[in-house]
Amino acid sequence: MIDVPNGTPLSLGVLISGRGSNLQAILNNIKNGSLSASVSVVISNRKDAIGLKHAEEHGVACVFVDRKSFNSKSDYEKVVVSTLKKHSVQLVVLAGYMLLVGPVLLGEYENRVVNIHPSLLPSFPGLDAQKQALEYGVKFSGCTVHFVDEGMDTGPIILQAAVPVLDDDTEESLSSRVLKEEHKLYPAAIQILAEGVTFKGRRVVRP
Ligand code: GRF
Repeated sequence: MIDVPNGTPLSLGVLISGRGSNLQAILNNIKNGSLSASVSVVISNRKDAIGLKHAEEHGVACVFVDRKSFNSKSDYEKVVVSTLKKHSVQLVVLAGYMLLVGPVLLGEYENRVVNIHPSLLPSFPGLDAQKQALEYGVKFSGCTVHFVDEGMDTGPIILQAAVPVLDDDTEESLSSRVLKEEHKLYPAAIQILAEGVTFKGRRVVRP
């Protein structure tokens, strides 16, 4: 699916909007050798995204693309795509990217856009996933790395991790328990993609 010549690190383009702790985890795992990839470019739709600072500290190319300066999502995404291409990106990694991905990006990177979501999908897609989990009363929640399709957190699942929901949990305490798992799960899922996966219907399996 992703054609990676033997021994070549998978070239990642990471899209962020804010804190960038998952980006940081990916960069750390590349540095310690547990993830065979390189972050070729970080693109943010927010100029003040803290994640841009982490990326700059790691010497990664950073680009701010302002959605507001384009009349349409497709014009905005054309610039995002040309930036990804310029940096020879093979896999697009959404890491706290707060915009819905549209057909221009998905068309250019079919089955090569992934996202991490802080719930066990298909439960609690969209915003405030941890709040939704607490309100529903589930006893386990977690995080999901999945391929991105045109829906809201609906694409095929690559990896999941579960955490317990405790009686005294608040949105903050549950979010921080989930986030710790995210930081392990996302690099692990990208490594699996670097090694190759295939589809059995919606199931993402290793060949
Ligand atoms: C994470 O909780 C992720 O699951 C969600 O947005 C948050 C991003 O956090 N998609 P960070 O910017 O990676 O710290």
